[in-house]
Amino acid sequence: MLLPIFSAFLGFASLASAEWVDSKVLDSCPGYNAVNVKSRGPKVTADLVLAGTACNVFGNDTKKLALKVTYETQTRIHVKITDPSSKRYEVPDSVLPRPKADPHVSVAEADIKFNYTTKPFSFNILRSHTNEVLFSTASHPIIFEPQYLRVKTNLPANANIYGLGEHTDPFRLDPSNTTRTLWSRDAYGVPQGSNLYGNHPVYFEHRSTGTHAVFLLSSNGMDIKIRNNETQDGETTLEYNVIGGVLDFYFLAGSPSDPNEVAKQYAQVVGTPAEVPYWSFGLHQCRFGYQNYIDVANVITNYSVANIPLETMWTDIGRSHYMYKRRIFTTDPDYFPVSRMREIVDYLHSHDQKFVLMTDPAVAYLPGEGYGPYDRGTKLDVWLKAPNGSASLGLVWPGVTVFPDWFHPKIGEYWNNEFQMFYSPDTGLDIDGAWIDMNEPSSFCTYPCDDPFAQAVQQDLPPARTSSPPDPKAPIFGNTTTQLQRRAAPSHKGENVLQPPYSIDNAVDGLSNKTAYTDSVHENGLVEYDTHNIYGTMMSIATHDAMLARRPGLRTLVITRSTFAGAGSKVGKWLGDNLSLWEHYRFSIAGMLGMATIYQVPMVGSDICGYAENTTETLCARWAMLGAFYPFMRNHNADTSISQEFYRWPLVAAAARSVLNIRYRLLDYLYTAFHTAHTDGTPVVKPLWFNYPTDSNTYPIDLQFFFGDSILVSPVTDENSTSVSIYLPKDRFYDFATFAPVDGTGASVNLDNVTFTSIPLHIKSGVVLPLRSNGTMTTTELRQTDFEIVVAPTVDGTASGSLYVDDGVSITQHASTSVTFAYAKHTLSVKGSFGFHVGVKVATAVILGMDKAPGKVLVHAGTSRSVAFSYEASTKVLSIKLDVPFDHDFQVQIE
Ligand SMILES: *[C@@H]1O[C@H](CO)[C@@H](O)[C@H](O)[C@H]1NC(C)=O
Ligand SMILES: *[C@@H]1O[C@H](CO)[C@@H](O)[C@H](O)[C@H]1NC(C)=O
Ligand SMILES: *[C@@H]1O[C@H](CO)[C@@H](O)[C@H](O)[C@H]1NC(C)=O
Ligand SMILES: *[C@@H]1O[C@H](CO)[C@@H](O)[C@H](O)[C@H]1NC(C)=O
Ligand SMILES: *[C@@H]1O[C@H](CO)[C@@H](O)[C@H](O)[C@H]1NC(C)=O
Ligand SMILES: *[C@@H]1O[C@H](CO)[C@@H](O)[C@H](O)[C@H]1NC(C)=O
Ligand SMILES: *[C@@H]1O[C@H](CO)[C@@H](O)[C@H](O)[C@H]1NC(C)=O
Ligand SMILES: *[C@@H]1O[C@H](CO)[C@@H](O)[C@H](O)[C@H]1NC(C)=O
Ligand SMILES: *[C@@H]1O[C@H](CO)[C@@H](O)[C@H](O)[C@H]1NC(C)=O
Repeated sequence: MLLPIFSAFLGFASLASAEWVDSKVLDSCPGYNAVNVKSRGPKVTADLVLAGTACNVFGNDTKKLALKVTYETQTRIHVKITDPSSKRYEVPDSVLPRPKADPHVSVAEADIKFNYTTKPFSFNILRSHTNEVLFSTASHPIIFEPQYLRVKTNLPANANIYGLGEHTDPFRLDPSNTTRTLWSRDAYGVPQGSNLYGNHPVYFEHRSTGTHAVFLLSSNGMDIKIRNNETQDGETTLEYNVIGGVLDFYFLAGSPSDPNEVAKQYAQVVGTPAEVPYWSFGLHQCRFGYQNYIDVANVITNYSVANIPLETMWTDIGRSHYMYKRRIFTTDPDYFPVSRMREIVDYLHSHDQKFVLMTDPAVAYLPGEGYGPYDRGTKLDVWLKAPNGSASLGLVWPGVTVFPDWFHPKIGEYWNNEFQMFYSPDTGLDIDGAWIDMNEPSSFCTYPCDDPFAQAVQQDLPPARTSSPPDPKAPIFGNTTTQLQRRAAPSHKGENVLQPPYSIDNAVDGLSNKTAYTDSVHENGLVEYDTHNIYGTMMSIATHDAMLARRPGLRTLVITRSTFAGAGSKVGKWLGDNLSLWEHYRFSIAGMLGMATIYQVPMVGSDICGYAENTTETLCARWAMLGAFYPFMRNHNADTSISQEFYRWPLVAAAARSVLNIRYRLLDYLYTAFHTAHTDGTPVVKPLWFNYPTDSNTYPIDLQFFFGDSILVSPVTDENSTSVSIYLPKDRFYDFATFAPVDGTGASVNLDNVTFTSIPLHIKSGVVLPLRSNGTMTTTELRQTDFEIVVAPTVDGTASGSLYVDDGVSITQHASTSVTFAYAKHTLSVKGSFGFHVGVKVATAVILGMDKAPGKVLVHAGTSRSVAFSYEASTKVLSIKLDVPFDHDFQVQIE
């Protein structure tokens, strides 16, 4: 059906929803003709002139555009279309530094090619070796209007598209009917099919012939629509509908055979992940609503008594909050007095444990009340402004607030200083990591937010406390009597930045609803309309920098809620306010894969046992075990939910102890994978198709995944169930629990009797795993335990692996140890540079899949000696006692 949108009598504002516009209308727009095409070496430029009568769908068509195409590397083409007559918004380089181009790229040798037609202009991206079309705008004219940009490509039928998050949709997006809206939102309950906290306008498309990626570098609000047979002509398409900025595409060739390559190429564009401290891979515990400092101390004690390793204690705010009236950079003098909190932090530090506290961006608006963070920020004038120059007001936990302007030249001075003061090791709370929340930015003010003060009263913000403070004379520690759970429109440059003509499918409708107004202005003149989607990432950068300023030279852990492309180069991310539901347990895997595999934000995890609503014993037990294979492992709970620390139920405690022992044994394997990710962008966790790219059965799987390259994790996925059907690709595996060989046939396998304290894990053959011999109560202690080297050979009898060790905390390492393991012909070779003093031994080597006991085993390390071994015929496991100091090369020869 054609709608009368060409009518001159219809105002743009009345074209409220994009759903009204039939794609045939957009396809009948004139598009552009390419003239003055110049091709010089790796660059193509052209002018694009409107090719017919303007269609003016959501504003007037721009008459003339500039096209600039650059072959930046052998695997990357940059295609940029701008309006040469006006300086339009682009994501600032300070937020996403642009990748460097290699000036000597040979177009003839490039893995992908840019091909185009001139009249009308359209372009293709082709894979050079096969001439396959990867992206094509043919028959879908480009539309370029001030507040509406549209590019549409054809896709193969039933395309395998991953990415375009943040979302809780399946990892492989439904190619028949998906709309992904990118607009940061405080998305309580992380609903499927809606925009969430972060924005990553990149997708990987996987074919049996290769994996490539398309990144649209834009922070403007957008809808990306994937449709199948939309116009009854059988085609599958992907369409970008963007409400501002420019068209700035990066096409990445990937590789015909190894999906890891496309991830690495994307890392070259947005940056590789920041290295995090070793301790940050330990277990984290947090809750929104610990009542007071004794509550916090109790949790620390109870973890210890339950023998569950707690590495880091966190404090959220909550209805009963650590802050004074929920104002950032304060503590409540009765419930969380600084002196008492300092005792807790000292206790943690003296036990090799860590402490993290939450900081929100919004600062309570309290003129003349002596609230330092507000007064100092006002003096520096660092707040986001309304169009009239006054501070842009919102409504957050403390009531009416202002928002820091992360573009202000003095914002670093402000934020660093607040962090130095409040988190001072001498007088304040000496945090080890930072947690930043509410940075979409979230506001509780419902649009129109004309009177945030009235809405504050209506919403009772901040509310009064409901419990009384603890007795200041009561002891903090030593109370282990914890109860266990029972079983069971103003305008900007003539544009309407409040209600643009095209409305993206924001789950809360208006762009400014529940966030900072989109007409708010930054010091550098940029408007929130354009920068909304990078607010969280800018806070991330500022917070990362403030943490480094506090502890120069030391890596830090910053966990954020809102992210944009590139955020992982500074911070990690938790997947927001999920619910204690089996469904959320299941889709946490796809959420993690999106961040870690596609978006280069590998320090990621969901709130274990579920954040809001009440968990159950079995859900929490299963989730503790799944969560042990999130790179970032944190149990976090809401204030009105039942308590869910792992020690609350004997079953959950047993599950947690068991799986943490496994996680900690694997911690150096994880740390090594993370170091590799930091070096080149290789993902830390992966979907199955990364390891089996030609096995199409793996393409939709998102309930199993690889932790690192080689540990296949296959959790039980259904409530109360003790069985799970898992897919085992045609390959040799080894059961992690018994080390016995398991041969996959490329079919589903039913696992029964999976107890509530175990999780199915398989080692993919071909790897050598450096495990610690035993889990411990802290990662500091863990680093003093010996290694056990597990060799899991392929059916051909080969395996390889690596290990990276350094001091675990310094940004610049003066000495590190890098070891490679190679196994072939029944000989294990351990070679490396041992610059960092690991200080422990290799206690044992365990060779899997041995058909028979050997005659003897020799260790060559300078001298040669025969060593003791034992062989278990039922599991085909050979255990060799080595006791070799881990500071030089050696070989183990099995005869
Ligand atoms: C669109 O162009 C017409 C003239 O061609 C002009 O009158 C109108 O103001 C323009 N509209 C916008 C929103 O710029
Ligand atoms: C490139 O485009 C031209 C039309 O402009 C077409 O004739 C040619 O076949 C295309 N090349 C490839 C490899 O598709
Ligand atoms: C596509 O998905 C939307 C949102 O879930 C739904 O409302 C619509 O009916 C679906 N369309 C088709 C053709 O299935
Ligand atoms: C597309 O839809 C039309 C009309 O419903 C149908 O006849 C045709 O078979 C469909 N094509 C494909 C490839 O699904
Ligand atoms: C010990 O903890 C329990 C449960 O949290 C609490 O009811 C009790 O008051 C605490 N006792 C002391 C001495 O803090
Ligand atoms: C704002 O969001 C709330 C949901 O949080 C919704 O009920 C309301 O209708 C929205 N208002 C506008 C003006 O978009
Ligand atoms: C969670 O359990 C508590 C205590 O039993 C109860 O008060 C609360 O209503 C429950 N919450 C939900 C969402 O069921
Ligand atoms: C799981 O078990 C609990 C406790 O026995 C029961 O209340 C619940 O209904 C069961 N859920 C399902 C889906 O069977
Ligand atoms: C599960 O375990 C029970 C008790 O050990 C055993 O009797 C039963 O045969 C097992 N079932 C399966 C399917 O392995």
